[in-house]
Amino acid sequence: MEATLDTFQLLGKLFYYFLESLVYCIIPKRKKSVAGEIVLITGAGSGLGRELAIKFSHLGAILVLWDINKEGILETSRLVKKNGGEKVYTYTCDCGNRQEVYNVAKQVKKEVGDVTILINNAGCVTGKSFLETPDNMVEKSFHVNALSHFWTYKAFLPAMIAADHGHLVCISSAAGQIGTNGLVDYSASKFAACGTAEALFFELNLQRKTKIKITIVCPYFINTGMFDGCATKYPLLLPLLEPEFATQTIVNAILRNQLYVLMPKILWFAMIIKQVFSVKMILAVSKYLGMDTFLLNFKGRQPAKEIQTGIEETPSIQAAKKVMQ
Ligand SMILES: NC(=O)c1ccc[n+]([C@@H]2O[C@H](COP(=O)([O-])OP(=O)(O)OC[C@H]3O[C@@H](n4cnc5c(N)ncnc54)[C@H](O)[C@@H]3O)[C@@H](O)[C@H]2O)c1
Repeated sequence: MEATLDTFQLLGKLFYYFLESLVYCIIPKRKKSVAGEIVLITGAGSGLGRELAIKFSHLGAILVLWDINKEGILETSRLVKKNGGEKVYTYTCDCGNRQEVYNVAKQVKKEVGDVTILINNAGCVTGKSFLETPDNMVEKSFHVNALSHFWTYKAFLPAMIAADHGHLVCISSAAGQIGTNGLVDYSASKFAACGTAEALFFELNLQRKTKIKITIVCPYFINTGMFDGCATKYPLLLPLLEPEFATQTIVNAILRNQLYVLMPKILWFAMIIKQVFSVKMILAVSKYLGMDTFLLNFKGRQPAKEIQTGIEETPSIQAAKKVMQ
């Protein structure tokens, strides 16, 4: 009897939440305010991290910027200030180093306060086939792309729980949802990042800590320089994303407390195909989409490459360009 009641209750809830999500498709959820929130962005020294910093500063957030690249975060801080931002704190930190993360986190708490929005964005890629990937690069991928999330969540989540307020953001990748050839270590570490954030979502919500929000971001290639040289076979179907579009989508998702962000949206079909199609059909689709060739000319981040979003060329970039020439 109890099981029947339970099942009917579940069906009722599913129907209600289905209708609710249909309404949200037509009238999107209201965006929350992040003015005065302390937003920590790892990997803020270039690419998405830099763009996110500029956007959150426009929204009135207090910024805490971390990167292993000191020049990079100083430049981001300068750009934020040039765009009107005032409260920016920069810290050099190797996010893959547990003790360093804990030490710098303590410093942030003392000097700035409790972080309320944590964006785990720092990332690295090897871009070699499985057998060509050196062991130390496999370890590095896991340290930076996956384990660092454990250390930062552990450092900042307790204060969020105590305040019953906070947001954890995991910048993963489409390769963290679909195993990707030529990116085995990257893909595996990004799956781990997604799994960590998703498991934490269930843990927090089932413990009724529902005020701590989680957002998991899985983009396809973005034109930031990290995947320089990669090509997409049918850009109309699967376009390389522009940093401006990607960062705005991430910011909107955070402001609406969205759990998953897959960019472009066509990736949702890939997720279904992966579960439903036969192995031969999946392989045919991957070949059609050019998965066998997209990394052929992979170069990765070039020192002089700056993202194409109107951000001016900085002295450090100019210096790097000279070295390259
Ligand atoms: N660019 C893409 O095509 C793409 C696609 C999907 C996901 N992503 C993810 O988005 C995030 C941002 O990537 P991006 O495109 O802006 O690349 P990016 O190379 O411009 O930025 C990565 C930043 O992380 C920093 N970083 C690297 N190792 C670090 C460490 N140990 N500690 C602290 N900082 C470290 C780098 O210095 C750099 O500033 C990454 O996690 C990446 O995996 C990128």
